[in-house]
Amino acid sequence: MGKKKLTTSSGSPVADNQNSQTAGQRGPVVIQDVHLLEKLAHFNRERIPERVVHAKGAGAFGYFEVTHAVNQWTKAKFLSEVGKQTPVFIRFSTVAGEKGAADTERDPRGTAIKFYTEDGNYDLVGNNTPVFFIRDPLKFPDFIHTQKRNPQTNLKDPNAIWDFWSLSPESLHQVTILFSNRGTPKSYRHMHMFGSHTFQWINEQGEAVWVKYHFKTDQGIQNFRREEAVRIAGEDPDYATRDLFEAIEKGDYPSWTLYVQIMPLQDADTYRFDPFDVTKVWSQKDYPLIPVGRIVLNRNPKNYFAEVEQATLSPGNVVPGISFSPDKMLQGRLFAYSDAHRYRVGANHNLLPVNRPISPADNYQRDGAMRFDDNGGSSVNYEPNSFNGPKEVPEAKAPPLPVSGAVDSYPYDRDDHYTQAGDLYRLLSESEQADLIDNIVTAMKPVKPEIQLRQIGHFRKADPDYGARIAEGLGLG
Ligand code: HEM
Repeated sequence: MGKKKLTTSSGSPVADNQNSQTAGQRGPVVIQDVHLLEKLAHFNRERIPERVVHAKGAGAFGYFEVTHAVNQWTKAKFLSEVGKQTPVFIRFSTVAGEKGAADTERDPRGTAIKFYTEDGNYDLVGNNTPVFFIRDPLKFPDFIHTQKRNPQTNLKDPNAIWDFWSLSPESLHQVTILFSNRGTPKSYRHMHMFGSHTFQWINEQGEAVWVKYHFKTDQGIQNFRREEAVRIAGEDPDYATRDLFEAIEKGDYPSWTLYVQIMPLQDADTYRFDPFDVTKVWSQKDYPLIPVGRIVLNRNPKNYFAEVEQATLSPGNVVPGISFSPDKMLQGRLFAYSDAHRYRVGANHNLLPVNRPISPADNYQRDGAMRFDDNGGSSVNYEPNSFNGPKEVPEAKAPPLPVSGAVDSYPYDRDDHYTQAGDLYRLLSESEQADLIDNIVTAMKPVKPEIQLRQIGHFRKADPDYGARIAEGLGLG
């Protein structure tokens, strides 16, 4: 093979990549050194805005394989027959930390899955927890402000964190998960992944059901205890990133088994709580786990920036056979992600290799920054047209979603923040309870007493013992 030529980005050979052009041996650098100018200018533009949340992450590729027939509930082609395989990409992340944050921080872990199906990309942008802190999208920016940095000190702010949670008791269930050792998973491989929201599945006959996704780790759940997580944050902040990369590199491919819970459409009206409330789990006694398939990750990205940083995943990317539910949070997210992608990566982000569907994308969108394909060439760019442009696909239509009532700002009508948080507390072993209490007490120590007391009130309502032990730990017993 011949020697590879170094060139500028416009392809012109570079004569010297070690010595800038100067006026004379010791003279100043000259502006005609266009290679130097391009090199410095391109370097200045190497960063794109980091994700406003979930900035620190790691990703890998693999496949999803159907192991059990589910076509009685969904016509999604990638789920249509046992044995069918679909390529996937998963990006794992922490939530609050910046791009350089430590992987072992206490935080939910993001689990964003892209299925490259023949009907377009299906993105399931979930977490390693089945529930969330809030249930109305209007609260999300405020919530995230409390997880990020104090506007004056630029420090993490325990008072803001616990002030918000104590004033938003719907967070209690997720807070209990977060401060258990599941808040510090041992690696991305040793945790479950959840779709969290309720979604809709639609079959060939146009009949719909509500569905929730659970991906159970085949590696088994493993968590760090707090002291270990804190130590590793200092010694090897990229611990989980390294773990994932190295496991795949040596052929130890991580996998997860997908189960779903299916709820008949009409049950939603009469279930004992609002099944679209993302702070709640559905009882597995009422809606048992049904196996569907398996995800295996077996290929590392070749280039982190191209394939992970520029990856754009959105809960709005669904395929025929899968649709949305009235969950307000999910509805809010349908706006937030694609908006972030247009800002962070650009209007044509879906043309990038990691985001491009494997099925041809054909529509009347044209132009925009970095339109690097043929931009539709000479084909017709409007509809309706008489020139054989792409046509609507009526069978892709989801069934109408029934709604009722007047437009207003409605609070949730059923408001039990405590039963499921208490159930979870009572489910933990004695040593898991002890770790939970210790983790919470340690985190709440720097917090103002009136906020501590308000939050202890919530723990007490979940379970008197839960509240009493935290009060005791904080010297407020
Ligand atoms: C990332 C907004 C709730 C999981 C993001 C991003 C935004 C966002 C703007 C950055 C996207 C990007 O720059 O590419 C919101 C809003 C929410 C919400 C407005 C509530 C209304 C949730 C919930 C979950 C979740 C409930 C999980 C169940 C994720 C994950 C990522 C992410 C996994 C990282 C995606 C990736 O790896 O590229 N969110 N989020 N978010 N969010 Fe949310």
